Amino acid sequence: MKSYVALIEKTLIHNVKMKSKNPFEPIKVLHTPREWECLGVGNYAAVFLHHSNKDWVVKIYARNLEGLEKEAEVYQRMGHHPAYSQLVYKGENFLVLKRLKGITLYNAVAKGVRIPEQVIIDINQALDYARSQGLTPVDVHGKNVMMNDGKGYIVDISDFYKEKEDEKWNDIVKAYYKFYRKTLYKFPVKIPLFVLDLVRHSYRIYTYIKKKSFH
Ligand SMILES: Nc1ncnc2c1ncn2[C@@H]1O[C@H](COP(=O)(O)OP(=O)(O)O)[C@@H](O)[C@H]1O
Ligand SMILES: [Mg+2]
Repeated sequence: MKSYVALIEKTLIHNVKMKSKNPFEPIKVLHTPREWECLGVGNYAAVFLHHSNKDWVVKIYARNLEGLEKEAEVYQRMGHHPAYSQLVYKGENFLVLKRLKGITLYNAVAKGVRIPEQVIIDINQALDYARSQGLTPVDVHGKNVMMNDGKGYIVDISDFYKEKEDEKWNDIVKAYYKFYRKTLYKFPVKIPLFVLDLVRHSYRIYTYIKKKSFH
């Protein structure tokens, strides 16, 4: 543990370059030090994995350091549950968390990877467990939940200290049963949706320009 923290401070914290424009946009990682890999970014933090330790990740806060304290408290109140990560260590501007494997549901949709119903069931159960611990599921959206081997996980619980739940996860569950099961689940598309839109638009513009220039 001690040597891992020393490694973080020496090779990651001092060399990483991150930019945070505003709280509504994801952090930008401008430079990832050698031997580290950036696993993902959120609006507050970026998460890194060192190639010598695939069990833990480092979540560096680029802004909102009170958020770091709150997240650490939430992990303490959560106790142990298989669908959540665990807090391993709290630093000044970073947390060491247990690594969760797999992909976010957002990326699953973008990559056309099928999301089994069990993933939704697991996450629902895990959120109930959080409620039983007196926590409040907030900000549970596609980039904060993951799946691996057909099981669901919640990767970001930093807002679970709040008092009032939001509708984000409910909306995803609704979309899953009303839309996803009938469409993408049956016919997974491998191309990201936004790319499809882009292609469709550029194709239209392209054909429009072509038509114009030939007549
Ligand atoms: N414990 C973890 N194991 C693996 N990947 C993680 C873990 N925590 C976060 N990530 C990845 O990093 C991304 C950003 O982390 P997150 O905790 O959501 O940051 P933020 O609080 O800024 O939203 C996530 O969407 C996920 O892809
Ligand atoms: Mg997040």
